[in-house]
Amino acid sequence: MKNILITGGAGFIGSHVVRLFVNKYPNYNIINLDALTYAGNLENLRDIENKNNYTFIKADICDYKLMEEIFFKYDVDGVIHLAAESHVDRSIKDPFSFAKTNIMGTLSLLEASKKKWGNNYEGKLFYHVSTDEVYGSLGEDGFFTESTPYDPHSPYSASKASSDHFVRAFQDTYGLPTVVSNCSNNYGSYQFPEKLIPLFINNICNDKPLPVYGKGENVRDWLFVDDHARAIDVIFHKGKLGDTYNIGGFNEWKNIDLIKVLIKTVDKLLGREEGESLKLITYVTDRAGHDFRYAIDSSKLKNELGWEPSLQFEEGIEKTVKWYLENKDWINNVTSGDYQKYYTEMYNN
Ligand code: NAD
Ligand code: DAU
Repeated sequence: MKNILITGGAGFIGSHVVRLFVNKYPNYNIINLDALTYAGNLENLRDIENKNNYTFIKADICDYKLMEEIFFKYDVDGVIHLAAESHVDRSIKDPFSFAKTNIMGTLSLLEASKKKWGNNYEGKLFYHVSTDEVYGSLGEDGFFTESTPYDPHSPYSASKASSDHFVRAFQDTYGLPTVVSNCSNNYGSYQFPEKLIPLFINNICNDKPLPVYGKGENVRDWLFVDDHARAIDVIFHKGKLGDTYNIGGFNEWKNIDLIKVLIKTVDKLLGREEGESLKLITYVTDRAGHDFRYAIDSSKLKNELGWEPSLQFEEGIEKTVKWYLENKDWINNVTSGDYQKYYTEMYNN
C-alpha cells in the first residue's frame, strides 16, 4: 500500500497515528484529511509537517463529492478513519452534529472507497477506528469482548455504533475490505482539555474547581495514546479482513481515584504541598445516561497479533502531566475563543 488517507489526523489520537506512520513508513504517502473543527489543530503536527511523505487537506468527510474527488486524485489505497465528533457531553447537547459527522461522514468515506476500489479490492483496506462505548455499560465484573452485543447509551456512542454497522454492512454487501477496532479511554499529549485528564490537569494548575460527575465512582480503562497508535499500526498491517479487535490496557480506574493520582502528580511537579489541591474536588450533577464501567478484554489482539501496552500507568500519567505543564502555550491556544463559551455553558450553571 502506498497512499494512505488518515481522517481526523489533526485531532488527539489521529495526530499520534499520523506522526507514527509518517516517521515509520517513508515509502507511504500519508494524506491527513481533517476539517479542523474545534478539536483539530495543526499545532499537533508541527514536527512532521514538512516531511516529503506528508500532505494535509482541509476537508469535511460529509462532503461526498469532494471525498470521491480526493480518492481519485490521490489514488488512495488505504484509509484509517478517525475523524469524528468525540465528546460525550457535547453529544448530549447537540446530537445532530454527531449523527452527521459520525454516521453520514463515515458513509460518505465508505461510498468513496467503494467507488474508487470497486473493480479490484486487492491490497485495499478501510480501517475504521471505533470505541468501547458501543458495548454499553458493565456492572462491577466482566469485560467487553469482540462478541459483546452493542448497547450504546449516549448520542455519541449510538452514532459510533451506527458507523460500525455501516462499515460491516459494506464488507458484507459489497465485499469492501474492512477492519474495525474498538478502544478504551486514551490519555496523553495533545488531548483537547474538555476530556477528563487534560481538563483536570489544567484546572489543578489554575486552582480551578474539579467538576466530578456524580460520586466519582464510574470506572474507565485507560490506555496511553501511543500504545493505541501502535495497535492501529499492527491491525492495519496484520489484521484479518472483516474482523474486529478490542484495544485496552487492562488498566481500570475509578474516576475519583484517578483524580487523586492527577492531583498528587501535578502538586508534586509544581512543588506544592502534597494533597494541597484536594480541596478543588467538587461533586457536580451526574452526566445524563452516564455509563458506569468500561473494561476491555484485549486478549484477542495480544494472542493473534502480538500487541500489548508498553507503558505502565504511573509512568504514562507522569509523562502526560509533564507534557501539559511544559506546553502551556498549546493549552492557552486551544482554550481561547469558543472553548470559554463551552466551559461556561457546561460547568457554570
Ligand atoms: P478528537 O475529537 O480529538 O479529534 C477528532 C478529529 O476529527 C479532529 O481533528 C476534528 O477536526 C476532525 N473532524 C471532526 N469532524 C470532522 C469532519 N466532519 N470532517 C473531517 N474531520 C473532522 O478525537 P479523538 O479523541 O482523537 O478520537 C479519534 C477517533 O478515535 C474517534 O473516531 C473516536 O471515536 C475514537 N476513539 C477515541 C477514544 C478516546 O479516548 N479519545 C477512544 C476510543 C476511540
Ligand atoms: O471509552 C472510550 C471513550 O472515552 C471515547 O470513545 C470518547 O471519545 C472519549 O471522550 C472517552 O469518553 P468518556 O466519556 O469516558 O471520557 P471523558 O474524559 O469525557 O470522561 C471520563 C470519565 O470522567 C467519565 O466517567 C465522566 C467523568 N468526568 C468527565 C468530565 C469531562 C467527570 O467526572 N467530570 C468531567 O468534567
